[in-house]
Amino acid sequence: MTAPLRVGLAGLGNVGAGVAKVLMGDTRTLAWRAGRGIAITAISARDKKRDRGVDLSGFPFEVDPLALAERKDVDVVVELIGGEEGVARALVESALRAKKHVVTANKALLARHGAALAALAERHEVALKFEAAICGGIPIVKALREGLIAYDISAVRGILNGTCNFILTQMEASGRAFAEVLTEAQRLGYAEADPTLDIGGGDTAHKLTLLTSLAFGTAPDLDGVSVTGIQKVSPADIAFAGEFGFRLKLLGVARTTPNGIEQRVHPAMVPIQTPLADVEASFNAVAVDAGAAGPFFFEGRGAGTGPTTSAVIADLVDVARGAFGPAFGRPAAELLHGKRAPAEARVSAYYLRFQVLDVPGVMAEISRHLANEQVSIESMIQRGRSPGEPVAIVMLTHETSQLSVVRALKAIAASDKVFEAPCMIPMEAA
Ligand SMILES: NC(=O)c1ccc[n+]([C@@H]2O[C@H](COP(=O)([O-])OP(=O)(O)OC[C@H]3O[C@@H](n4cnc5c(N)ncnc54)[C@H](OP(=O)(O)O)[C@@H]3O)[C@@H](O)[C@H]2O)c1
Repeated sequence: MTAPLRVGLAGLGNVGAGVAKVLMGDTRTLAWRAGRGIAITAISARDKKRDRGVDLSGFPFEVDPLALAERKDVDVVVELIGGEEGVARALVESALRAKKHVVTANKALLARHGAALAALAERHEVALKFEAAICGGIPIVKALREGLIAYDISAVRGILNGTCNFILTQMEASGRAFAEVLTEAQRLGYAEADPTLDIGGGDTAHKLTLLTSLAFGTAPDLDGVSVTGIQKVSPADIAFAGEFGFRLKLLGVARTTPNGIEQRVHPAMVPIQTPLADVEASFNAVAVDAGAAGPFFFEGRGAGTGPTTSAVIADLVDVARGAFGPAFGRPAAELLHGKRAPAEARVSAYYLRFQVLDVPGVMAEISRHLANEQVSIESMIQRGRSPGEPVAIVMLTHETSQLSVVRALKAIAASDKVFEAPCMIPMEAA
């Protein structure tokens, strides 16, 4: 057998400690798959003394993770520190420059700097692998980069953030408000103390950016993603969605359109009894429209030590076998810089909710503004009658441009019979 692949492990947290445990266990099966052993030769974290649930005292500990990139006994640096900039970026760059392969789970770093890092890896003829960066244990990077390549992919839709899916699932099951469920999610460890990146849609945007590149051969374009989080989702909208036969999910969607490439993250109404609508709790899923190959659906755990470690180990086996190509499936110089489809031009059906004063003429006024913008109504619910009091009017529209809906809602919001800004949620064919 060839000499083992020597791993410098940077970051010994949730994922790093999981990777260490697997590589310190019985790795014979991995060695058979890889054609050689895979062994840790040096480690780095902030706190040398912290108990990681695994005895790492036998390995050289580098206080400065960048030292891993310089070590002669390291072939591959596994970056599991995290963060778009700072030490993680410096480490990945110096490792690639030092002709070390890199395996990382860092979606924030790749979504922002993926094209430059892919070019750097190619220049130095080493691997840049990131299966764990998108949907943890789901092997979606391999599927898009190596599997579904015969035909052009037209769309990728995903539930890419387990925290948001857990919150929305709980809100639906219990009818409780967003803030209350978020607090519970934090208590149970499903949400971070600072949940902004998850609930604001930023984490989904990072993963979507990478999916877009893999699916369409474009350079990662994080700034091209339009992002709306779940903070304003109300139990009322979730309940109305159910009455219309839909479920509310935070989706990341990337599509090719005649206007360019569309990348968007937002709460969406997904038809019940479609695979995406059935993704529950903290699970992740990706639906791929792969042209003549047909539709595909991948579901699994998108985070946590086990699933994420599984993806990191799969990358290490590929590196050990020498089975790696360009990071995003085509040479970095050939990555396309696709035109961004303008959000206003997007055509979709919409869910609309208005809180209005229950007085004669209010329906006629809403209908008039919608008609002025050629927005036509498919169905409608008006719940309760309390003359002179606020009531909810909920509508589903036929397909229409986002610009038309936005214009109509602006006019409606100006009415003195309307309380609160109208709620507008796109419907997504899953
Ligand atoms: N957790 C998941 O389920 C999951 C899923 C998919 C992707 N990821 C990605 O995987 C990466 C790691 O996530 P994680 O959850 O394992 O994070 P984590 O538990 O916070 O661990 C981060 C590790 O990095 C170390 N570290 C931080 N700053 C450092 C520095 N300046 N020098 C050396 N070491 C430093 C920490 O050291 P100390 O322990 O000594 O503080 C810790 O061991 C991130 O990019 C994340 O986005 C995570």
